[in-house]
Amino acid sequence: MECITLTNVVKRFGITYALNGLTFSIPCGGRYSLLGPNGAGKSTTMKILAGLIRQDNGEVLISGMKPGTKEVKKILAYLPEDPVPYRILTVRENLEYFASLRGIPDPRRKAEDMIDLFGLREFERTQAGKLSRGNQQKLSLALVLLHDPEIVLLDEPLNYLDIPTQERIINILKGMNSTFLVSTHIMSIASRLTDHVIMISRGRVIWAGSISDLRALGHEDEPIESVVSRMMSNDG
Ligand SMILES: Nc1ncnc2c1ncn2[C@@H]1O[C@H](COP(=O)(O)OP(=O)(O)OP(=O)(O)O)[C@@H](O)[C@H]1O
Ligand SMILES: [Mg+2]
Repeated sequence: MECITLTNVVKRFGITYALNGLTFSIPCGGRYSLLGPNGAGKSTTMKILAGLIRQDNGEVLISGMKPGTKEVKKILAYLPEDPVPYRILTVRENLEYFASLRGIPDPRRKAEDMIDLFGLREFERTQAGKLSRGNQQKLSLALVLLHDPEIVLLDEPLNYLDIPTQERIINILKGMNSTFLVSTHIMSIASRLTDHVIMISRGRVIWAGSISDLRALGHEDEPIESVVSRMMSNDG
């Protein structure tokens, strides 16, 4: 069964075509990267799936439902590019607040668990607005993932994170059984977090398949990054 489907999706901003006939689907339980250069349309795709903006043309379905509906919001996690936390609340208060909003039976307990899982103990009483950008990113991830979402959309999730924190987050995400769509322009992040790639450029899919198929397209010993940049620069 498909959990995410886009069919011929078009999104214009003025005269700019951010998405220009984007078509792909992700089976439930699939782990997919949305890979593409700056301006390719990754964040626009994520925002449409999150129900924040609407496509001008084409069809978008999440578990057979339209984005932005109450049913979809229950099962979805969306990590945007911008920080998620409420700036005047502390780390702990943010977690308790989001857990309450999500109807989690014991929000305080959930906040405790997320503080430990995401390594936020040192900052539990710090207001979110005072955190470094990387620590805000950690908290953002904790806030959007705390309801055990079935479908997870992450826009550049490892941005701002130091290497040990990247490892921690990769392990957390790998331990989840959700359907994943992760946007990135970095192939090594795609290959660590997911096993399939949807490569887009100028709002269209230029290649889609498994990471092992992608690797096989390269010459002997050619790094996968080089295969990807060749494919992207060949795109006319
Ligand atoms: N609100 C907006 N108004 C005008 N143009 C926009 C807007 N949002 C996106 N665009 C344009 O749509 C195109 C796709 O942008 P998008 O942010 O989806 O790319 P991206 O793949 O996420 O890039 P990056 O890797 O830089 O994050 C770009 O040409 C961008 O300038
Ligand atoms: Mg983006």
